[in-house]
Amino acid sequence: MAERHFKSLICFLGCLLAAACAGVDASDAARPEPGDALAGAHLFATACATCHGFAAEGFPGLGKPLRGNRSIWEKTEDQLVHFLKEGRAAEDLLNTTGVEMPPRGGDPDLSDQDLRNIAAFLRSINE
Ligand code: HEC
Repeated sequence: MAERHFKSLICFLGCLLAAACAGVDASDAARPEPGDALAGAHLFATACATCHGFAAEGFPGLGKPLRGNRSIWEKTEDQLVHFLKEGRAAEDLLNTTGVEMPPRGGDPDLSDQDLRNIAAFLRSINE
């Protein structure tokens, strides 16, 4: 094999390996990083636990229980992130408590990746 071809083959394999190690499909590099459940657990404690409880057990009249919660395990990570961005107004027909779930849990400083990490945490406690 000509040296030039050999070099480009090595380069190609290197790229494939780098993409595989990063957990990214080479054809779809723009996708966000998958959520990090451990980072999400920390964020949950500061941003969500006031209403949903530190163990995600819920508080009557505040946030719903987020353990053993069907609406969480039925959603993909993307769908959960979407829900967390939007929240659910008290007057929303899907609202079951008459209490608002604020967009981003009421904390506009939570980035999309933060929400993704929290979504991964919620999914991890609802497997
Ligand atoms: C101010 C209180 C409050 C905060 C803060 C809050 N929530 Fe909520 N959340 C609620 C309420 C109330 C509901 C129930 C809405 C309803 O009745 O449908 C809810 C619903 C949810 C649901 C849907 C549960 C279901 O069964 O439909 C998820 C998921 C959720 N919250 C996640 C979070 C996360 C994650 C955070 C932090 C980023 C957060 N919430 C912060 C009050 C809150």
